[in-house]
Amino acid sequence: MSSAGMDETDFLDRVRLVAEAFRPAAPIDRRELFAGRAEQIAELFSIVSQPGQHAIVYGERGVGKTSLGLVAAELLGAADVLCAWATCDASDDFSSVWRKALGEIGLTTAKQALGFGEHVDQTTEPLSKLLASEVTPHAVQGALKQASRQRPVAIVFDEFDRFQDADGRVLFADTIKALSDRVVSSTLVLIGVADSVGELIREHRSVERALVQIQMPRMSASELAEIATNGVTAARMTITRAAVARITALSQGLPHYTHLLTQLAAQAALAERRADIGVRDVDAAVTRAIDRAQQSIVEAYREAVTGRPGTIYPQVLLACALAEEDEFGFFVSSDVREPLSKILHKPSRTSAFARHLEELSSESRGAVLQRSSGGGGAARYRFVNPLLQPYVAMRGISEGVVRVSELQPGR
Ligand SMILES: Nc1ncnc2c1ncn2[C@@H]1O[C@H](COP(=O)(O)OP(=O)(O)OP(=O)(O)O)[C@@H](O)[C@H]1O
Ligand SMILES: [Mg+2]
Repeated sequence: MSSAGMDETDFLDRVRLVAEAFRPAAPIDRRELFAGRAEQIAELFSIVSQPGQHAIVYGERGVGKTSLGLVAAELLGAADVLCAWATCDASDDFSSVWRKALGEIGLTTAKQALGFGEHVDQTTEPLSKLLASEVTPHAVQGALKQASRQRPVAIVFDEFDRFQDADGRVLFADTIKALSDRVVSSTLVLIGVADSVGELIREHRSVERALVQIQMPRMSASELAEIATNGVTAARMTITRAAVARITALSQGLPHYTHLLTQLAAQAALAERRADIGVRDVDAAVTRAIDRAQQSIVEAYREAVTGRPGTIYPQVLLACALAEEDEFGFFVSSDVREPLSKILHKPSRTSAFARHLEELSSESRGAVLQRSSGGGGAARYRFVNPLLQPYVAMRGISEGVVRVSELQPGR
């Protein structure tokens, strides 16, 4: 696309389209903006159609769990499934969470009107009206049975990890069991930040057979590329392949950064009245993204790296951000050795930075890393807040300590 002659109308139009096409700060709730995840969507559909099965979606913070739930609900709604949504919070107990969910479902009842012949009165009331003051698994099952006579029902409970009420969780497991045993045509979808299903539902063993696990990995490079190119096309712009590759490498599997960097790169091109986005626009975007980083991320970074001059905490943290991680963000200390050697310009042994990894995992440095030593193998680490990882890598790039080509190209 030629850059010449972008008039004011075209410019303003594209500025608006760029603002609409990218959502760095909010989940996706529309099919058009949603990329990839075909496998997980298909799995949710198959679970909803299987009597007695329920789903549990879990994974790292920010990988796109809520977006998956919202888009799946939109697609299920189009397939004539009655969908409801409840976002859990720390104040919830079993009753409040079910009132939220069932309050979203309308139950229509028909009554023959007195003295008017054929006339039928229809009333619609929220399903939560059927619940007594104290909500029990039996009552929930009864209400869902009524509602699913009309159409199959699916209820999504987002942020289930924040629902901490211990008794409530036991009752939740009982409810899943009751729904499965009675083959009520209702599906529950629990979504939460967790490493394992057991963390989300403690009574997990008793409902194991009824729960299908969907572990959400980070997004692949091709899924991230789809986010970038879809948005750019929607804004009537173009982007070079090299620029897309740079964005996906910098995003490290986290769609938030793909939205943010592509949006900022598009704005940088438009500022020069160009409709074609190139690598240098992405570089400009990196600088702006660092300036605009969330306060919590900037503070976590400072707490992790500050210290006497000469300590190598900044370098070790950067090497961790560049280490080859698995699709759930984990790396081991030998993965850190190579990037650290490059950063320090001298070969580094794992024993030289073992203490740094320990410290970065402890409260003294804000516990930015999570250490897990499960299974007797080498300790595995990952960033507690996944969004800190690309931030650290981008700082290293903009300070000239590392080059983009040293980033993992992405899966
Ligand atoms: N499939 C997708 N296609 C395009 N963008 C996506 C997709 N999934 C997530 N995103 C974007 O990624 C960011 C994080 O998504 P989302 O809020 O759904 O993640 P999450 O796992 O629910 O996060 P949290 O753990 O904080 O609740 C948002 O900016 C969202 O717009
Ligand atoms: Mg979410």
